[in-house]
Amino acid sequence: MRRGERKVRHVSHVETPPSPLQTQDAEVHAWLQREDRRQANTLTMIASENHCSAAVREACGSRITDKYAEGYPNRRYYGGCEAADGIEELARQRAMQLFGAEDANVQPHSGTTANLAALTALAGPGGRIVGMALKAGGHLSHGHDRSHSGMLFSAKQYGVDGSGRIDLDDVRKVVREHQPKVLIAGGSSYARNIDYAGFAEIAREFGAHLMADIAHPAGLVAAGVVPSPVGIADVVTMTTHKTLRGPRGGMILAKAEAAKAIRSAVFPGAQGGPLVQQIAGKAVAFGEALRPEFKTYQQRVKDNANWLAECLIEAGLDIVTGGTDNHIVLVDLRKADVTGAEVEERALAAGLAVNKNAIPDDPRPPMVTSGLRLGTPAVTTRGFGHDEIQAVARVIVGLVRGGDPDSFRATVQQLCEAYPLP
Ligand SMILES: Cc1ncc(COP(=O)(O)O)c(C=O)c1O
Repeated sequence: MRRGERKVRHVSHVETPPSPLQTQDAEVHAWLQREDRRQANTLTMIASENHCSAAVREACGSRITDKYAEGYPNRRYYGGCEAADGIEELARQRAMQLFGAEDANVQPHSGTTANLAALTALAGPGGRIVGMALKAGGHLSHGHDRSHSGMLFSAKQYGVDGSGRIDLDDVRKVVREHQPKVLIAGGSSYARNIDYAGFAEIAREFGAHLMADIAHPAGLVAAGVVPSPVGIADVVTMTTHKTLRGPRGGMILAKAEAAKAIRSAVFPGAQGGPLVQQIAGKAVAFGEALRPEFKTYQQRVKDNANWLAECLIEAGLDIVTGGTDNHIVLVDLRKADVTGAEVEERALAAGLAVNKNAIPDDPRPPMVTSGLRLGTPAVTTRGFGHDEIQAVARVIVGLVRGGDPDSFRATVQQLCEAYPLP
């Protein structure tokens, strides 16, 4: 059977009984059903989102959600933690194998918590840090003044050059001036490979620790299709739900000498009891990522992003840095005379989830923006390749040029039905 052809199903006359949630709480059940339908009928091109497997979802919805397990495997403050210990240790071992890391802490509830814990361990309370500015493509948790990372640490930021790329000479200048304890490499809308060795050299020169945040490209790094900071940076933080295609959560990889400080900065420093059900989901996702087909998937994510950028450029759109090395394509809408917010809204009406995003030195405010961040992880999970990316690129160009969203709805719906959710 070819892709896109519908299987003929024999309709069973046995009705499935209502689920416990459906029986007990029709309102929550209805909202969740609505989200299922939204995901099924929407092409997600939000670069930070993906569709995890049914196995990951099953682990996250398991009974171990009831278990308190403060502490670490074999050193817990609660009894009955045998399964929690086994799961956490399995997740740690798989993560270390996947990334070639000396230590893995799988407890952070999120990427932001992972960053706060890592910064506390490496810089100490109130310590000086340097990271990439939000408006240049960095993340809030890299020292932005509205984030705890900017309130509790003394932060200075570096930007990007006129072409949208990190300029290591500028990074060195900011580090020389601020003398930080931690230099952060990584971003949220940076589409180019990062020279981790170059960052490490600057950190060493000024006696700083290097922290790499690979929240976005973690899956690509694990599969070896983009450069890895593991073994170069002292600490590597990430989320597990973006390209890595696991459950919502965070993780910290560390060199052996930093592992102890990271452990206590996560618990009891930044968190109480770990979310063991999420750690079980992480273990499942890392198991999936260790299989050969994960590398094929990640290569395809990258090829699809590259092809998407080519299609958009061919149609006359501007792409920040002129292309991509990873899963992100950042469109500069200034010449098209439309805002990121407007295109985001039109796209949603057509069944396409994308997000408005600041471009470097964006003249417009963050809720409006002059950019559109696109990503290929979720549509690649659905099975998209060359032709489907080309079709979706045509939709995006049409929407940017002011086309009626309704005129694209059928194309998007056909793609959703031909490539269902996993
Ligand atoms: C680079 C980077 N670090 C950290 C985070 C924060 O992750 P979370 O939303 O899980 O706190 C993000 C999220 O988008 C990110 O892009």
